[in-house]
Amino acid sequence: MHTIFPDIYWTGCIDWDLRNFHGYDTPSGSTYNAYLIIDKKPVLIDTVKHYGVQEMVARIQEVIDPSKIQYIISNHTEMDHSGSIDELLKFCPEAQVVCSPKGLEGLRRHFKKDWRFKVVETNDELCIGRRTLKFFLMPMVHWPDSMATYLADEKILFSNDAFGQHRASHERFADELGIDIAFDDAAKYYANIVTPYGNQVIKALDALKALPIEMIAPSHGLMWRRKQDIERIVALYQKWACYEPDKKVLIIYDTMWHSTKMMAERFYELIDQAGIVVKMVSLQQVHISDIVTDIQSSRIVFFGTPILNNRMLPTMAGLLMYLKGLKTKNRYALTFGSYGWSTLGFKELEQSVQDAGFELLSKGQYICFIPDKPQLDQLKECIPIITNKMKGI
Ligand code: FEO
Repeated sequence: MHTIFPDIYWTGCIDWDLRNFHGYDTPSGSTYNAYLIIDKKPVLIDTVKHYGVQEMVARIQEVIDPSKIQYIISNHTEMDHSGSIDELLKFCPEAQVVCSPKGLEGLRRHFKKDWRFKVVETNDELCIGRRTLKFFLMPMVHWPDSMATYLADEKILFSNDAFGQHRASHERFADELGIDIAFDDAAKYYANIVTPYGNQVIKALDALKALPIEMIAPSHGLMWRRKQDIERIVALYQKWACYEPDKKVLIIYDTMWHSTKMMAERFYELIDQAGIVVKMVSLQQVHISDIVTDIQSSRIVFFGTPILNNRMLPTMAGLLMYLKGLKTKNRYALTFGSYGWSTLGFKELEQSVQDAGFELLSKGQYICFIPDKPQLDQLKECIPIITNKMKGI
């Protein structure tokens, strides 16, 4: 039994086996967090993926008979949180399903059922006995229906996807697991799930600013309970929502016969020698969901590919299509690569990089066949442009 406060329990599901969350690499699994509040009218906040319903019900049964649950709060329609409502209602047929107006639309479309719904708006309150719950709609953080539920008595924010992380663990609190791991997981989560919605995140943070918060209980991963951790994760969300990078360069490349790799390595040496933090990743070795996490902290990104059949390599095209959807801002880029007889594919690369929200710093650096030493040395002409763009960060 996971008691997080007297009469408040974690009753979620640990998905140890999850390795792919619609394209997001999850090497450490995940959790779907449900929270049970025992009061005059017992409440369950969020549910779990459909295949975790037995685990969730068993955890609830450790505390109460599920038929006593009066409200199921659906903070978010996406099926990792609402996917077992239908099954759960068989255990508590009298429960009302509490959701936002867009949540009502989404749940009806998913389940084709007319449950006993209670639709709430921002600042609406729900008295459950000794305690009162308050709701805050957070449209597009990260779906139209998303909302948070606040428990004023214990000062807990049930934030749904916001502030979450994909991590399966026995621990329930970020400070128990290892705080740096939790922050790294949260950065990856934001980069892959929340990046397109910076403006909406800022609005949500503004709305929540007035609330005293002593615990953030998200719907994935670990809860945040220490004051310094809550302040830090909120500050990071503010920074990420404003698309603020660190003073860092990221070199992303793929290669066929090592020519583009030679260029990437020379760029790495030159940037390192200029005293700038630089990281290099190969698209053959690193998953794109980890690469976008590094982009989140990088001011300048180098994109390198050779030409294959007049095109950039498909790995680079895939990354750039993913980035186009994430719509990052305030980032600069430089393109590079090797070719045999046609440079046409580099025009497409440059356009795709711009379509993904990056501003090109200079013309791309492209070398025919195998780079020789003078050609590699000539790449140093790009370095003053890099150092200039880092000023003021
Ligand atoms: Fe974790 Fe948007 O669902």
